Parts: sequence; structure tokens; C-alpha cells
Amino acid sequence: MKMKLMRILLLCFLSCFWFQLSFAQNATTDPSEVRALNSIFEQWDTQAVPGQWNISGEPCSGSAINGTNIYSPDINPAIVCNCFYDNNATCHITQLKVYALNKRGVFPKEFVALRYLTFLEIDRNYFTVPLPAFIGNMSALTHLSIGSNSFSGPIPKELGNLKELTYLDIGSNNFSGTLPPELGNLVKLECLYLDSCGLGGEIPSTFAKLTNMRIFWASDNLFSGKIPDFIGNWTQLTDLQFQGNSFEGPIPTSFSQLTSLITVRIGDIYNGSSSLDFIKNLKNLTDLKLRNALITGTIPSDIGEYRSLQKLYVPANISLSPNETN
Ligand SMILES: *[C@@H]1O[C@H](CO)[C@@H](O)[C@H](O)[C@H]1NC(C)=O
Ligand SMILES: *[C@@H]1O[C@H](CO)[C@@H](O)[C@H](O)[C@H]1NC(C)=O
Ligand SMILES: *[C@@H]1O[C@H](CO)[C@@H](O)[C@H](O)[C@H]1NC(C)=O
Ligand SMILES: *[C@@H]1O[C@H](CO)[C@@H](O)[C@H](O)[C@H]1NC(C)=O
Ligand SMILES: *[C@@H]1O[C@H](CO)[C@@H](O)[C@H](O)[C@H]1NC(C)=O
Ligand SMILES: *[C@@H]1O[C@H](CO)[C@@H](O)[C@H](O)[C@H]1NC(C)=O
Ligand SMILES: *[C@@H]1O[C@H](CO)[C@@H](O)[C@H](O)[C@H]1NC(C)=O
Ligand SMILES: *[C@@H]1O[C@H](CO)[C@@H](O)[C@H](O)[C@H]1NC(C)=O
Ligand SMILES: *[C@@H]1O[C@H](CO)[C@@H](O)[C@H](O)[C@H]1NC(C)=O
Ligand SMILES: *[C@@H]1O[C@H](CO)[C@@H](O)[C@H](O)[C@H]1NC(C)=O
Repeated sequence: MKMKLMRILLLCFLSCFWFQLSFAQNATTDPSEVRALNSIFEQWDTQAVPGQWNISGEPCSGSAINGTNIYSPDINPAIVCNCFYDNNATCHITQLKVYALNKRGVFPKEFVALRYLTFLEIDRNYFTVPLPAFIGNMSALTHLSIGSNSFSGPIPKELGNLKELTYLDIGSNNFSGTLPPELGNLVKLECLYLDSCGLGGEIPSTFAKLTNMRIFWASDNLFSGKIPDFIGNWTQLTDLQFQGNSFEGPIPTSFSQLTSLITVRIGDIYNGSSSLDFIKNLKNLTDLKLRNALITGTIPSDIGEYRSLQKLYVPANISLSPNETN
């Protein structure tokens, strides 16, 4: 009995000692990442806010390691580190945010040195010039958000190397050219925002592989060609928007498989008249916008079942009640 107690006490003492020891070892940021981060921020005329992180020149400190969420609006610019490397001796930068700070500049090549970066959000700044091909080397990224900037030129095909991406936002930019077929390799993508980004041409057939898609926004671009049938295989979709392009109808009947859809804004469809029958199965649809589309036939007679359908915009010559037309 006594021996057992002693052993427990000893174990406790040892583990407490070990616990303190592991806390006493203050991890430091990988020096190559410190250099890269300082260089990137220097090029963008940006600094960590004093007292939040980069305390005494150590980036992985303060809010970067105390569990603060990268989305916290109180900390911006922000980084988050993981300090469990090399037996808790080394920190790597895993997340970086520079959001709506009116920053100017290019996408610096030093980003490639942030090898552990999974999350990058630099929306709502004035970053310019083409997106560099080396962005395809940032292979740990799961979340890449560069929307609402002034990036221009073509989308580098190397973006298709970022196979871990689940979230990609390049919307509201000034790109030109077409979507590289290589983006069809991003099979983990769940959210793809391409709205108002300047791109045109057809949606590549390789996008048929993107069946994990939940949100697809491609409105207000120069996309053309037939509305792809394969979108009907993206059965996880809740939000589908591609109005303001030059797609050719009809709306594929495969869309009736998209039973998770809540929001559908797919107007401005030319040359093929579409039946609205596809909405019969879409029990969760609350927002349907079909302005400037040729619609044949009638609204399905059991539309009354769609009590959740709060906003319905269809061409003015289709009538139903209650309705909003546009
Ligand atoms: C770790 O950091 C704490 C507080 O910043 C400091 O008091 C302590 O001396 C440091 N330990 C080591 C081993 O550097
Ligand atoms: C971090 O602090 C050092 C020393 O104060 C400074 O030279 C460096 O520019 C800072 N880096 C960032 C990213 O703010
Ligand atoms: C984390 O650090 C930041 C900046 O030092 C501070 O404002 C915040 O309150 C801290 N949060 C937690 C949960 O410790
Ligand atoms: C690193 O630190 C964590 C939390 O402080 C601890 O659970 C883990 O066992 C430590 N790992 C090593 C190898 O010391
Ligand atoms: C990106 O990776 C390619 C192929 O591995 C390599 O040739 C190139 O130098 C890398 N670019 C940068 C900026 O590290
Ligand atoms: C977008 O690019 C076009 C030409 O490529 C240029 O005329 C226009 O000023 C650019 N707009 C912005 C917001 O950068
Ligand atoms: C949709 O998926 C089915 C089953 O995987 C496949 O047979 C079909 O070819 C796909 N349709 C399109 C248009 O890609
Ligand atoms: C419809 O919405 C309900 C409630 O949010 C949800 O439980 C259900 O899974 C959705 N149906 C589909 C097919 O997504
Ligand atoms: C619609 O059809 C006409 C005639 O076939 C063709 O000239 C026009 O380019 C088509 N429009 C679109 C957006 O496909
Ligand atoms: C609605 O108008 C378009 C042309 O503006 C026409 O082609 C279509 O048949 C009309 N639909 C109905 C149901 O009358």
C-alpha cells in the first residue's frame, strides 16, 4: 500500500518536473522563416503590431502561439505558429493574414520559404502584377485567399499543384485568359470563388473531378460555352453562382441531382431554352435567380411545396405567385 503511494508520488513528481522542463524550453521560429517573413513584410511596408506578436524580434510569440484564432479581427496582420517541431524546440509559421490594410506590392518569392504555411489570406489590398508560378511550390496550403486585389495576367498552371487546397478565392481581381485545366487536379476543393476576376473561355472539362465542391462562384466574367453537364455531379453544392457570363443553355437536366443547393444564381444564359423541372428535387432551395434566361414550359406545378423558396427571380414572362420577377 505504502509502496504504491510512494510510486504514485514519485511518478507525479517526475511528470511535474518534466512538465516544467518542457515549458522552460522556449521554442524559437525557424530562422529561414523569420528572414522570409521579415522580408515579405518589409516589401509590403508592414509590421507586426507591437505587443501582439514578434515580441523582441521573435515572430512565434504572443498571439501567434496563445491560441488566438487567425480570423480574430483584433490581430491584423497576424500569424499562427506550430511549435511542436524538434521536441518542442522549433516553431514553424502555419498561418498568415494581411487583411484589408491597403498594402501594395507584388507576391514575394520569399513565400516559398514558409514551407509549413497552410493558410494565407491577403484579401482587400492592392497587390498587383501576375501571380508568380512559384506559388505552385507552396504545397502545404489548404486555404488560399487573394480576393479583391489588383492581380493581373494569366493564372499560372502551377496553381494546380496545390493539391491540398480546400478553399481558393481569386475573385475580384484583374486576371486575363482562361482557367488552366490543371486546376482540375485540386480535387479537395470545397470552395472556389472566381467572381469578377477577369477570366473567360470555357470551364475546363477537368473540373468534372471537383466533386467535393460546396460553393462555386464564377459570376461576372467572360466565361462561355455550354453550361457543363458535369456540374450536376457536384452533389455537395449548396451555393452555385455563374450569372453575368455568356454561357449557352439549356440548363443541364443533371442539375436535378444537386439536392443540397440553397442558392442558385445562374442567369444570363443564351441560346438554349431551359426547363425549370430541375428544381423539383431541390427541397432546400431558398434563393433562385434566373434573370435573362430563356425558360420554357412552366414553373413546376408543385412549386407550392417550396415554402422555403423566399427569393425567386425568373424572366418577367413567367408568372407565379408569390413571386418577384427580374
Ligand atoms: C522562457 O521564457 C520565459 C518567459 O518569457 C523566461 O522567463 C524563461 O527564462 C525562458 N526559458 C528559457 C529556457 O529560455
Ligand atoms: C520583428 O521585430 C524585429 C525587431 O524588432 C524587426 O526588425 C522586424 O521587422 C519585425 N518583423 C515583423 C514581421 O514585424
Ligand atoms: C493572446 O495574445 C494577445 C496579444 O498579446 C492578447 O491580446 C490576447 O488577449 C491573448 N489571448 C489569450 C487567449 O491569451
Ligand atoms: C511538447 O509540448 C506538449 C504540450 O506542452 C506536450 O504535450 C508534448 O508531450 C511535448 N513534446 C515533447 C516531445 O516534449
Ligand atoms: C519551385 O519548385 C521548382 C520545382 O521543384 C523549382 O525548380 C523552383 O526553383 C522552385 N521555385 C522557388 C522560387 O523556390
Ligand atoms: C485591369 O486591366 C486592364 C487591362 O488589362 C486595365 O485597363 C485596367 O485598368 C485594370 N484595372 C484594374 C482595376 O487594375
Ligand atoms: C457523373 O458521374 C457519373 C458517375 O461517376 C459518371 O458516370 C458521369 O460520366 C459523370 N458525368 C459527367 C458529365 O461528367
Ligand atoms: C436540407 O437542409 C436540412 C436542414 O439544414 C439538412 O438537414 C439537410 O441535410 C439538407 N438536405 C440536403 C439534401 O442537403
Ligand atoms: C447564339 O447563337 C447564335 C446563332 O447560332 C450565335 O451566333 C451566337 O454566337 C450564340 N450565342 C452564344 C452566347 O453562344
Ligand atoms: C419568355 O420569353 C422568351 C423570349 O423573350 C420566349 O422565348 C419564351 O418562350 C417565353 N416563355 C414563356 C413561358 O412564355
